[in-house]
Amino acid sequence: MTGYIIGTGAYAPSLAIDNHEIEKLVETSDEWIRERTGVVRRHIVGTETTVSMAIEAGRRAVEDAGIAPEEIDLILVSTISPNAILPCVACRVQEALGAVNAACYDLSAACTGFILAYSTVLAYMAGGMIKTALIVASDSLSNLTNWEDRGTCILFGDGAGAAVVRAGDGPFYLPVTHADGSLGDSLTCRSRQDHHQVFGGSLAETYDDASYYIEMDGKAIFQFAVRKVPEVIRETLQKNNVRQEEIDWFVLHQANGRIIESVAKRLGEPLEKFPMNVQEYGNTSSSSIPLLLDEMKKKGMLQPGQKLMLAGFGAGLLWGAAILEWK
Ligand code: UT7
Repeated sequence: MTGYIIGTGAYAPSLAIDNHEIEKLVETSDEWIRERTGVVRRHIVGTETTVSMAIEAGRRAVEDAGIAPEEIDLILVSTISPNAILPCVACRVQEALGAVNAACYDLSAACTGFILAYSTVLAYMAGGMIKTALIVASDSLSNLTNWEDRGTCILFGDGAGAAVVRAGDGPFYLPVTHADGSLGDSLTCRSRQDHHQVFGGSLAETYDDASYYIEMDGKAIFQFAVRKVPEVIRETLQKNNVRQEEIDWFVLHQANGRIIESVAKRLGEPLEKFPMNVQEYGNTSSSSIPLLLDEMKKKGMLQPGQKLMLAGFGAGLLWGAAILEWK
């Protein structure tokens, strides 16, 4: 048993902000941003929201899969920027698509969200609970970005990606996921609950708006990523008895072009096997992997029988990898 991706979809806001626009906000340069991150522009929500992007990406994936919405048994949305605490984004997607038979919930795992969502879907499938799932990743990180902090505002962008996964006969590849909560403070974004405790806390706490933005120790995350991603890729290969040379594509979370280059080098693989679109979208959190898969599919890069290594990493800190065979 395995979970094949039978349809993909993506949505990026129409408003694109290039590095020269960022130069007007903080002390930086197009050259510095390109060199250190690979980012050239990022798409930013205008009228769109996390929910509207999730609906559109989900709708496109379902159309691409050629299935009826009623066939979807589970909708899992990976997001850290939902429009509201309640209801979950997945229920909004369910309503818009008419996926009346789907169980729905959101998953909060930041940039590793797509790997964890795919792992969850596989587990449901292996347990015989579902046959068809819609995974959607959607985030409007621009709403969580401090546009005065040059360490973060150069990096992030908004967007959504989706994949329809269907259970089928084939090799079951065990995904590998890890967490290290002790490193959590290196990438944070507080919520109001931190300040506003009704019982036992002080209601008079002054709100510091900057607290609700992403704060990151970029260097620490960089070093963590270039060490842990090759490690978890090797672990995933070993656990599944798959040789590294059998992997056709390494589809990594698009956080920073230099991280991807470093992972390729550490694995001894040519950079051509690591498709990238960070230049166009920046770091879109868990949306980056399905956004890239959709682009690869549309470009005809994905052929039946090819093996893909997906890998994600980020806040938590969390990291993980999964082998996927293309159908
Ligand atoms: O999705 C997962 C989560 N996040 C990530 O994956 C992020 C991982 N980290 C990174 O991508 C990189 O660490 C950054 C792009 C955030 C920063 O790049 P860096 O090469 O690690 O730069 P740095 O923080 O070590 O700073 C190097 C220099 C410093 O100047 P000095 O002290 O050498 O004079 C910084 O002040 O660059 C300066 N600097 C900048 N200069 C121009 C930092 N940010 C900027 C900037 N423009 N935006």
